[in-house]
Amino acid sequence: MCGIVSYLGNQNALPLLLDGLQRLEYRGYDSAGIFIQAGDKAHNGKVSGKVDDLRKHFETSLLKEAHVGLGHTRWATHGKPNQINAHPHESNDGSLVLVHNGIIENYESLKTILVEKGYRFKSETDSEVLINWIQEIKNSKQLTLGEAVHWALQTVVGAYGIVVFDKTQPDTLVTARLGSPLVIGVGEDEYFVASDATPFIQHTRNVIYLNDHEMAILQKNKPIEVQHLKSNTPIDPEIEKLHWNLEDIQKGGYDHFMLKEIFEQPQAIKNTLRGRVNLEQSKIDLSSMKRNEDRFIHATRIIILGCGTSWHAGLVGEYLIETLARIPVEVEYASEFRYRNPILYPTDIVIPISQSGETADTLAAVNIAKENGAFIYGICNVVGATIPRATDDGVYTHAGPEIGVASTKAFTSQVVVLIMMALKLARLKNALPNDQINELLLELNRLPENLETLLQHIEPIQHLAKTFDTATNCLYLGRGYNFPVALEGALKLKEISYIHAEGYPAAEMKHGPIALIDEEMPVIVIATKKGHYDKIVSNIQEIKSRKGRIIAIVSEGDETVKKLADHVIEIPISSEIFTPIYATLPLQLLSYYIAVNRNCNVDQPRNLAKSVTVE
Ligand code: M6R
Repeated sequence: MCGIVSYLGNQNALPLLLDGLQRLEYRGYDSAGIFIQAGDKAHNGKVSGKVDDLRKHFETSLLKEAHVGLGHTRWATHGKPNQINAHPHESNDGSLVLVHNGIIENYESLKTILVEKGYRFKSETDSEVLINWIQEIKNSKQLTLGEAVHWALQTVVGAYGIVVFDKTQPDTLVTARLGSPLVIGVGEDEYFVASDATPFIQHTRNVIYLNDHEMAILQKNKPIEVQHLKSNTPIDPEIEKLHWNLEDIQKGGYDHFMLKEIFEQPQAIKNTLRGRVNLEQSKIDLSSMKRNEDRFIHATRIIILGCGTSWHAGLVGEYLIETLARIPVEVEYASEFRYRNPILYPTDIVIPISQSGETADTLAAVNIAKENGAFIYGICNVVGATIPRATDDGVYTHAGPEIGVASTKAFTSQVVVLIMMALKLARLKNALPNDQINELLLELNRLPENLETLLQHIEPIQHLAKTFDTATNCLYLGRGYNFPVALEGALKLKEISYIHAEGYPAAEMKHGPIALIDEEMPVIVIATKKGHYDKIVSNIQEIKSRKGRIIAIVSEGDETVKKLADHVIEIPISSEIFTPIYATLPLQLLSYYIAVNRNCNVDQPRNLAKSVTVE
């Protein structure tokens, strides 16, 4: 789970790689390094810490200008996050340089062979083993770099996205992938290779997504050569166009990406809905569902897979699809599903949900479901990512790049997709009266505007954050559609502010968590008007009588809960199916301001990375 970026062309590689790594820091930020070479001069600068530290390192470097280079930002898997373990790694004879994202599972056995042959290792990493393995094969078999990488990868078990450079062939980069994402940017007389396209978006929009088991040889002023690592056959690469802009991946005046992404939600949802809600004909136009209409009509079960926030969106999906379309739904953690020999039927539809489309557990679960013959329909944000490429069909959320590690706009746009799917299924299966579907469509269409209004009233949330930023524990409670909101609110708080928080179905409180409640315990209750309102009011009373400090998310104009709670945050009155979206926004903001007050690194919380591409 690291970020890699490399450059070969006529521009100065160093600033380009530094800026590129900065954009990839969401993938890992415990150490960073850049190798550059110009003529007979080369410099491999590595630091423990962030890309800013690497920038400082290069201020004092003698070599600052080069037209080729490899960069890496690390999230440690093998070995501590220190300078020695930082990439790029060089081979024993000093000729080869490598950046690697992934895990080489059989590195110990390869290392044993290399040690017997006299190789010595400076770092504890699997990556240093890989570059020496390539060197050994290259030298012993007298191969070119491309041939050696090809050979070496036949014996490697694990996951990799790599770029390899040979100091004696400075006009060539070799790159290959299996399980870790790689995108090649094709510019005018220049190539970029990166974990995603953010490092080079202002230089080129022409990209080639490398697939698993593919290797590419990039040579200055020559067309790109792509080959299949297993069959050794040449592949004609498909050049695709990127459809987003540099501004989409910049903070745009906000203090943090997370705050920008919270405020982007009205626009993100507009993009998710664009061209898909047909008010004139009162229907949802989802072309991928239309293509597979028969399967959806005859589906006897839907299994939703995901991790973290995407799993929470899946839980909302369960309520939506079961209630509106009356199809049974199961929601599974992808990490559990992949290891439990699941029972699948040909009439099942498996729906993986992933913002990044790179989460290792979700990808593995998709592969298991595929092996079992299931039809896979994905929901993903990143166009062209690994998961959507592995599915049979699916739908993009189009929320735009999400950089903050805490997922915000991705969640609400996933829920919007699930609402559209549930409404479409309801119509296909005649499970809801048409006038009800029409009303819900109208409400769906008003979401962006209502969210815009909601975001204009954030002062009470900032104020609340000041009251609660010293809390050590928090309880989040909700029922029905608001239970996943409680889970999501708690996850948001713990991941960015490091305050322990738990989400619970409100009625479960009596079965244990109620013991935690005292005058110190903030309890956030989602108590919107529609759906189990009276029940949740009773739950609030139970908390109050135990002196818990109640923060309630209520529907506009609610007077009952206002009298009971210590603080209330109002959200628009809506049909129940929309409350997960309206209620999540204030909870995102509350976590954000609490984390800022506690001086936490909001966009890059400790120990986390945006895409979890390792198990
Ligand atoms: O990219 P994915 O949606 O597959 O990521 C899944 C989780 O890793 C992710 O939602 C994670 O829980 C976020 N940090 C939550 O804010």
